[in-house]
Amino acid sequence: MSILGLLPEHTLRSAYHARQASIRYPLLFAHGVVRRLLDRNLAPSRASSEALRREYLSLLERDFENATQDVYPRELLFEFPLRGYAWALPRLLAEVPRVAMRVRRGGWRELPDDVDTSRFPSYFRRTFHWQSDGYMSRRSARLYDLSVEVMFMGCGDVMRRQLIPPIATLASEHGAQPLRILDVGCGTGRTLQQIARAVPGQQYCGVDLSPFYIEEAREVLAGVPDVSLLAEDAEQLPFRDGHFDVVTSCFLFHELPRATRPRVMAEIFRVLRPGGLFVCEDSAQHAEAADLSEFLEAFAADMHEPFYLDYVQDDLALLAEKEGFEVSAVDRAWLAKVVTSRRPAH
Ligand SMILES: C[S@@+](CC[C@H](N)C(=O)[O-])C[C@H]1O[C@@H](n2cnc3c(N)ncnc32)[C@H](O)[C@@H]1O
Repeated sequence: MSILGLLPEHTLRSAYHARQASIRYPLLFAHGVVRRLLDRNLAPSRASSEALRREYLSLLERDFENATQDVYPRELLFEFPLRGYAWALPRLLAEVPRVAMRVRRGGWRELPDDVDTSRFPSYFRRTFHWQSDGYMSRRSARLYDLSVEVMFMGCGDVMRRQLIPPIATLASEHGAQPLRILDVGCGTGRTLQQIARAVPGQQYCGVDLSPFYIEEAREVLAGVPDVSLLAEDAEQLPFRDGHFDVVTSCFLFHELPRATRPRVMAEIFRVLRPGGLFVCEDSAQHAEAADLSEFLEAFAADMHEPFYLDYVQDDLALLAEKEGFEVSAVDRAWLAKVVTSRRPAH
């Protein structure tokens, strides 16, 4: 047992909150500076700010409870890939003026010249979040995880791991046979990495359209046995029907055009076995988070997320139900939501 298992709960809770505060305060300051640079002044109403704070604290509480109830290891509460982030930080800072210039000139088509972008769907050929190279370079992949943590005040991984509890429950009931777990739109592999920490000994698979992000995921997941990573399109998953016991997706659907979302949902349904579990995490939507509407809409305007505005007006749970999934829970996770569902057994 690690030292974290020996600490009294109130000491562990204080250490966890202190740790999050030490990340949050410098980032709040940095956000203010970047907003000035980009000339973006968000002045949310008091009610919205209170809702944001309340949901943030409830995310931290939920994270802490999951760890102390052994849903996932306590170590995850304090894990931050410091070495990688120390490498990325000066590079990310150097990106700030570049991104500011790109925003000013509206340069969302500025992709690397040496990549054949014609093999990707048109919606994908853009600098999502204004990030340099969009999803089309290793450089972008190396900066991605840190930029997510900066954007979400150190809660990127905290939000991602909120999709673990139903998988941990299924794994505890499943017996000796490893579960086949697929993460669709796996990006750099941070979700799979945390799933593998919480439910070790399973067969993991990640699919992402960006070969550059898949390369990065190979590094992030280098220590995980039995993992395969494929640069493939979620609209045409290269697996036979019913192959997986569990499918997850994290922050994928809000980036897809409205017409693409049902096609991806249908592919997920197809590759999941009857009775299998689908845990879908993505941005919050008005359906369950009307109190955060101001923030959700500001995000669409600021971040070059062209499909986000209609995404937030839709409801992921309804999209899953339309495909035939049986939704058992919709849980809020600060700026995200987790929709838990099953493919019917018959
Ligand atoms: C916002 S990122 C989320 C990545 C990761 N799941 C995470 O939690 O950080 C969205 C990811 O979806 C991927 N993506 C977008 N369209 C896709 C598609 N049609 N098939 C597979 N991946 C796709 C992108 O390459 C990107 O890595």
